[in-house]
Amino acid sequence: MTSRGWPNPTVEAFEQAAPHYDRTGVSFFGPLGTELVRCAGIRPGERVLDVGSGRGAVLFPAAQATGPTGHVTAIDLAPAMVSLTAQDVTRAGLTHVDVRIGDAQQPDLPPGGFDVVLAGMVVFLLPEPERALRAYARLLRPPGRLAVSTFAAPDPAHVAAVEALATHLPADQPWPVPKADPFADERTIRATMTEAGLAVTAISEHRVESRFRDVDHWMEWMWSHGGRALLRHVPADRLEAATADAARALKPARVDDGGLSLTTAVRVTVAALRADGSAQPAAGPDGGGR
Ligand SMILES: C[S@@+](CC[C@H](N)C(=O)[O-])C[C@H]1O[C@@H](n2cnc3c(N)ncnc32)[C@H](O)[C@@H]1O
Repeated sequence: MTSRGWPNPTVEAFEQAAPHYDRTGVSFFGPLGTELVRCAGIRPGERVLDVGSGRGAVLFPAAQATGPTGHVTAIDLAPAMVSLTAQDVTRAGLTHVDVRIGDAQQPDLPPGGFDVVLAGMVVFLLPEPERALRAYARLLRPPGRLAVSTFAAPDPAHVAAVEALATHLPADQPWPVPKADPFADERTIRATMTEAGLAVTAISEHRVESRFRDVDHWMEWMWSHGGRALLRHVPADRLEAATADAARALKPARVDDGGLSLTTAVRVTVAALRADGSAQPAAGPDGGGR
């Protein structure tokens, strides 16, 4: 736990973002969640685990796919995400869905308990993604399916705007240099999955267009998800200047109605347990396979 009582700063940011997460009128997580579930090919009656469930962009289509003869367990480490989503599940009358606090890094769930594990836009947020995948493989009932979505290519204007915001961070709070990405490209993804004891069955790329009224709407969206992890370190008296710099960076995304249009490419990887049931030897206490 950090001194503020959160497992890590990412979860703290999502906890604060939860009431507005995927509720700013921007099309992004919804279509990606639907696509992830479609690619996973979930059948009625299957038992599904959704890790890092947020406000349910994956959970709700998954619950529709399993139907009431199946079951969806959803875990998230941010209590506000869990309680708000649990309320939505109750309101929707879904009795075959169970939303609870749980760690996507190391889910404390029975081995072999799931036909499908889904991880929508979350594995790259985890401290040790490769180790998490090995944990997911252990949760699958053979042959099982794991479906994960990861970034293929963010819109260049979005990247430039985030970089513009980051120039306003205090010197003692620099934007972290990205670590080696185990989902950087298809070859790397295949190697990562193999090491987790999984064989890739399909990798597909999907584009989602997100529209914003203006830069203030884009900032509202940034506060509502992982972007908050950056914004909350920008001093209050720098936010106006930071927003102006972001607006300049977003100019290439301007469209005719005066709004902004950003296109993000996302990869969906589907993998199954390897036929021989083996994981590649890997370092760490849980690295020895199933
Ligand atoms: C970008 S959101 C994705 C949410 C959802 N899957 C979707 O597609 O909209 C990432 C989610 O993962 C959660 N999260 C981050 N680290 C986690 C961890 N170690 N264990 C469980 N959930 C975690 C956050 O609280 C947040 O709800």
